[in-house]
Amino acid sequence: MCGIVGYVGSREASPVILDGLQRLEYRGYDSAGIAVFADDTIHIRRDVGKLSNLRARVAASPLTGSVGIGHTRWATHGAVVEKNAHPHLSMNGDFVVVHNGIVENYLELREELTAKGIVFRSDTDSEVIAQLIERYAGDGAHGDVAEATRLAVRQLRGAHAIVVLSRRQPDRLVAVRIGNAGGVAVGVGEGEHFIASDVSAILDYTHRAAFLESRQMVIVHADRFAIQMLDGTAVSAHVQSLPYDPVSAAKGEYKHFMQKEIFEQARSITDTLGGRVDFEHSQIILPSLNLDPERARSLQRLVTVACGTSYYSALVGKFYIEKLARLNVEVDYGSEYRYRDPILDSDTAVLAITQSGETVDTLAAMEEAREKGALVWAIVNTIGSQAMRFADGHITMNAGPEIGVASTKAFTASVVDQYLLALYLGMLRGTLTPGELRAHARELAKLPDLIGRTLENEHTLRDLAGHIHEYTNFLYLGRGINYPIALEGALKLKEISYIHAEGYPAGEMKHGPIALIDAHMPVVAIALRDNVYDKMLSQVEQAKARNARVIALVTEGDTVISSKADDVIEVPACSPFLTPILSVIPLQLLAYHVAVRRGADVDQPRNLAKSVTVE
Ligand code: G6P
Repeated sequence: MCGIVGYVGSREASPVILDGLQRLEYRGYDSAGIAVFADDTIHIRRDVGKLSNLRARVAASPLTGSVGIGHTRWATHGAVVEKNAHPHLSMNGDFVVVHNGIVENYLELREELTAKGIVFRSDTDSEVIAQLIERYAGDGAHGDVAEATRLAVRQLRGAHAIVVLSRRQPDRLVAVRIGNAGGVAVGVGEGEHFIASDVSAILDYTHRAAFLESRQMVIVHADRFAIQMLDGTAVSAHVQSLPYDPVSAAKGEYKHFMQKEIFEQARSITDTLGGRVDFEHSQIILPSLNLDPERARSLQRLVTVACGTSYYSALVGKFYIEKLARLNVEVDYGSEYRYRDPILDSDTAVLAITQSGETVDTLAAMEEAREKGALVWAIVNTIGSQAMRFADGHITMNAGPEIGVASTKAFTASVVDQYLLALYLGMLRGTLTPGELRAHARELAKLPDLIGRTLENEHTLRDLAGHIHEYTNFLYLGRGINYPIALEGALKLKEISYIHAEGYPAGEMKHGPIALIDAHMPVVAIALRDNVYDKMLSQVEQAKARNARVIALVTEGDTVISSKADDVIEVPACSPFLTPILSVIPLQLLAYHVAVRRGADVDQPRNLAKSVTVE
C-alpha cells in the first residue's frame, strides 16, 4: 500500500526518509524509491521488493542532500518494475513527484502530453502529474513549483495525495491532498519539517503535526510551512501534539480507530485495486488465486463461508459472481456450515471471507471443504494468517491493519475483492466481453474518489446522530444488492452503540416487522436510484403512514424520496455495482456518531472481540 515521506531541513534527508518508509512497512508494498536534491540535480534510487533492497541500493550508491521525498508503492497502473516505482521525474528532470491515488483521466492526459512531445518513461498514471507540473512551470529558471502544482492538479480527476520537489526551488516541498486517497501530515521540527501519509513514519523525529484537509496544499520550508486552499486562500494551520505511544499516535487526527478506518477507505480501496486491474488492457490480474482457465470453466458452484461482517460482505459478492461470472453462489455462516453435512465435490469452490484469517468457525468450514474435495479459496486481510496459508488460492484485501473491533474498511475491501473475483471468473469463463470488462474497470477506477465524496458528508451524519441517539430500536431496510447493506448497517449500530437494530429485506417488511413500526422506531431506508427504486419508494410511504421517522439514503439530487423522508443522506450517483460500497459508508458513520453520543467504547465494544477463535 502506498506510503509517502518527505523531509526538508539540515540533516541528511535519505536516512530520515528511509526510516519513515520502514515505519510504513506494516502496510506492505511491492517497490519503493527515494529522490534527494544535491548539486543542482534530483538524484533518484528505486527498487522493487522489500525496502531492504532500496536500502542496499542507497548504501551502494549514497545520496547526500537535505531535501527529499520517498514512496512505497502498491501497483495500480503498470507492472511491478523499477521504472514504475515512485518518485517520478518530469521529462527535463526539473520536478519529481510521489503520489497516492488513481488519476482517473490519465490516459487522456497522457495522450495530450505525448502529442505535445512529452516523452514518458513509465506506465504509471502518476507520471502525468510530474509532466503536467513541468509543462505549467514553463521553460527557464522561474516557474513557481506551488503555482505549477496548483494548475496541474486542477487537471486531475480522482482522489490524490501528492508531494513535489523541484530542482528550481529546492528549498521547499509542496504537498496536496484532494479527497481521501491518503492523509498528508506535516511534521513540525526545529528548523526542519517532515511530510508523511501516516504520522507513525515521523514519530522518531517530532511529536507535533498539522494535517491537510481535502483540496488543501502545503508549502514546506525548513523553517516554516504555509497551508492554502487549492484556490490560493490562506488557511491557518492547527498544529497538534501527537501522543508518544505509537499505537495511539497511529490514530493521527482521529478520535477513534474506527473513525480513522472509515476515513481510510478511499485509500484502502486504492490498495485493494492495486496491481489487480490492468486499466489499459482491461484485464483482471489475480495470480494468487492459482486458477487456470480450464478449472474456472469447469466450476459449477461457489459456496462462500464467513462470519459477522464478512458474512454480509459475502451476500453482496453473490450478486457480483452470479451476475458477471454466471456461477451459482450459496452463502453460509461458518458456524453453521459443517453441521449440515454439506454436499461438495471437486466442481465446487469454497470461498472463505475473513478479515483476521483466524476465525475458528470459518477455518472449520474451510477444513470441511478440503476434506470433501472442494477447491478452497480465501479472501483475507491479515497476511500470513491461518486461512491464507490453508487455502489453495487467495486474494488479499490490502486494507492495512484493522484495529477497531467493528469491521469497516475490511468490509468494503472484501466486497471489492469479490467484484474483482467476479470479473476475473467472468473473463476466464467467457461470460464477459472485453468491452464489458473495460466498462467495469473504468467504474472501479472511480471508486476511491466516490468514496472520498461520500465521506465528505460526515457532518450530516454527526448532526443526525445528535437527533436520534436516544431511540432504542431501529429498522434498516434495503433491497437487491443493498439488502446486505441494511444488515450490515444494523449490525454496526448494534455492535458499538448497543441499540437494538434489525436489518430486513424491504419487501418482507409487510410480512412481520411492519407490526413493530410506530413513532418510536426509526426506519433507515436505502433507497438509491436503481432497479428497485420504485419499490423502495412504496416501502418508505408505508413506513411514513405508520408514523415512523424515516431516514433515507438517496442518490445525490433525488428530490422525490427526499420530500417524503424526515432525514436525508445523499450518496453520489454511481454504477449499480458500486452502490453497496458507497451506501455502507454513511451507515458506518451513523453508527459511529450515535455510539460517540452515547459515550460507548467505540473501538472496544463490550463482549466483542476482533478475532473470534473459539466456537
Ligand atoms: C468478530 C468481529 C467482527 C467480524 C467477525 C468475523 O465477530 O467482531 O467484526 O466481522 O468476527 O471476523 P473475520 O476476521 O473472520 O472477518
